[in-house]
Amino acid sequence: MLNIALPKGRLGEQAHELLTRACYGGGSLSDMGRKLVIESESAGVRYFLVKPSDVAIYVEHGAADLGIVGKDILEEDRPDVYELLDLKIGRCRMCVAAKKGFEDDGSSVLRVASKFTNIAERYYASLGREVDIIKLNGSIELAPLLGLSDVIVDIVESGKTLRDNDLTVIAEIMPISARLIANKVVYQFKSAEINELRDSLGVVTND
Ligand code: PRP
Repeated sequence: MLNIALPKGRLGEQAHELLTRACYGGGSLSDMGRKLVIESESAGVRYFLVKPSDVAIYVEHGAADLGIVGKDILEEDRPDVYELLDLKIGRCRMCVAAKKGFEDDGSSVLRVASKFTNIAERYYASLGREVDIIKLNGSIELAPLLGLSDVIVDIVESGKTLRDNDLTVIAEIMPISARLIANKVVYQFKSAEINELRDSLGVVTND
């Protein structure tokens, strides 16, 4: 059996659809109700539904062999896992955004609000820009509107949230998509099974 941690929500459903097409289906996620584990003995897989930011924790500690997680979380938390495949779903961009018309003249410490404080810190360190990072847990777009920060570092998918709040992208930090990750120790002794799943998934992600 391969134990696979899936993120709850739309990304998990999309990932499960891909896995089903790759012949690793485990029934229907929408029929699960409040159940958090489903398994398919014939496909040799057991799926756990966890909070997106917890997927890599389960995998790093070996509670799950494999997981599906956004590159944003991998970059933010840098868990000690193998990244095996880009699933090309859940695509978006990690961006710096600000109120329309904002220009950073470099004269004072830049106030940056984000959920992704490590990504923000590394990005501004690479630019040599002095920043004050403010950690928020959601609705990041409010921070520049209320004067809590000058800019935000956040995920932009359709761009609608920024548009609806009169904010605009001022820099792109990195493209994001979902990745298949594996526990490093488990990968050593289940490598044949894991590589087979990765290769089958690779075929359907390229369709
Ligand atoms: C994410 C992100 C943006 C929004 C971007 O928020 O933080 O707010 O989606 O999507 P868009 O470009 O398509 O508008 P999420 O919905 O995860 O909620 P959050 O505010 O709790 O972070």
